[in-house]
Amino acid sequence: MNILHISAECYPVAKVGGLADVVGALPKYQQELHINSNVIMPFYDIAFTKNNNYIEVYKSSLFLGEESFDFRILKLQDQDLGFDLFCVDVPKLLFKDYVYSADDTERFLAFQIATLNWILTLEDKPDLIHTHDHHTGLIPFMISECFKYESLKHTPTVLTIHNAQYQGWFPHHKVHLIPAFNFDKVGLLDWNSNVNPLAAAIKCAWKVTTVSPSYMEELKQNANGLESLLRHESAKCVGILNGIDWNVWNPETDSYIKKAYNQSTVKLGKETNKNWLCKEFDLDEKKPLFVFIGRLVGEKGADLFPEIFEKALQENDISILLLGSGHKETEQKLSTLDNLKNYNSYIGYDEKLSHIIYAGADFLLMPSRVEPCGLNQMYALRYGTVPIVNKIGGLKDTVTDINENGFGICHNGVTIEKVTNAISRAALFYNNQKDFLKNSKKIMLIDHSWSNSAQEYVNLYKSLKK
Ligand code: ADP
Ligand code: GLC
Repeated sequence: MNILHISAECYPVAKVGGLADVVGALPKYQQELHINSNVIMPFYDIAFTKNNNYIEVYKSSLFLGEESFDFRILKLQDQDLGFDLFCVDVPKLLFKDYVYSADDTERFLAFQIATLNWILTLEDKPDLIHTHDHHTGLIPFMISECFKYESLKHTPTVLTIHNAQYQGWFPHHKVHLIPAFNFDKVGLLDWNSNVNPLAAAIKCAWKVTTVSPSYMEELKQNANGLESLLRHESAKCVGILNGIDWNVWNPETDSYIKKAYNQSTVKLGKETNKNWLCKEFDLDEKKPLFVFIGRLVGEKGADLFPEIFEKALQENDISILLLGSGHKETEQKLSTLDNLKNYNSYIGYDEKLSHIIYAGADFLLMPSRVEPCGLNQMYALRYGTVPIVNKIGGLKDTVTDINENGFGICHNGVTIEKVTNAISRAALFYNNQKDFLKNSKKIMLIDHSWSNSAQEYVNLYKSLKK
């Protein structure tokens, strides 16, 4: 079975968040299940593409409305990612430096059209197309409705929703950019009087998945306007929990961290990484270290961090370290907090540092208001770090509270009070070092590798086979 994943991000090529981690790992695990699973993404003008070789496998041009654009399909050489990686290069719409920008409508439309034009020419066509998020949401519509892609009409399509907050909508006057289709079907593209790629994909894909079961249920109640559509389409919707790449995220072999460790050496391993972090960020290594890693946006609860951190540091004998970037005002507030005792931050994106933080931290904070799955809590567990989470979406599906025979700290809802109470509860837990260490050892063994979920996707693909 040939599967093609179509995505805006893929680790290690281009990563903004968890989407990249998923698309960089799932196909690898599917290959192990004897599914020929590969990836196509845009060709960004970024460090990875500059430092790696590609060969051109196809060259043509496409139309966005009346305007013609040359494009090339490139295939990554040298690096073995565990699957084939193809990129769409549209020089006139160069994806420069950044993954997302203001002119995304045209860029991602060109990406999707080029991908489908290329698929038309393949001898060995994909048996199923797996699209991810709104950037590739017009693919199921184009396959089922655009005259040009008539021959692909019977190719099953799967949409995975990683985050329904972002829908990629654009005004109807741009609808002519989409290749010709029977205009009676324009309603399939529409949601609330705009062309909405995520809504179109929910309507047109053969199956719709979310990245955790709880998130699917939550979306039926609140999906940034799409809840009634998800309820209406619920027969083809299913939640499949994300996994993590067990090899990339492995404290025993991780070359980014200061000392590798396994379950039996966890105490020394974590201490060494923590000491390095505390020295680097001027924190006291004797205090329990609470960290946050992620995008500084409202969904992650980041707007409340300044007040949460100040209160938590007043009430507890702890240290806090933050690694993140995002909302400019929040970034600024968080970096000015740096003169607060026992707090420090690194505002920016640093993959290597993130690994050291997962390894050296005692607790990982995830007070997300919305969390479709969340990978950070699973990375934390793998590195013996206790997650403190709001019980929502994938966090609810992966973390159980210590008071319920579990291993993490959970709170219900995101307020300054609730999060600081959870931090105080965690600090108390840390005081009992014997139980704390026992818990670290236990959580390192929880298996969140992709093995199970990759199989679930394969079962889903097989159920759709022509
Ligand atoms: P989301 O996709 O919503 O941002 P996830 O938990 O699914 O959340 O995935 C976030 C991914 O991005 C994780 O791999 C996390 O380690 C990484 N990440 C987020 N922010 C940073 C940062 N500033 N530096 C390094 N890695 C980061
Ligand atoms: C999104 C979600 C996150 C999820 C990730 C990978 O970015 O916000 O919760 O883990 O996609 O599916």
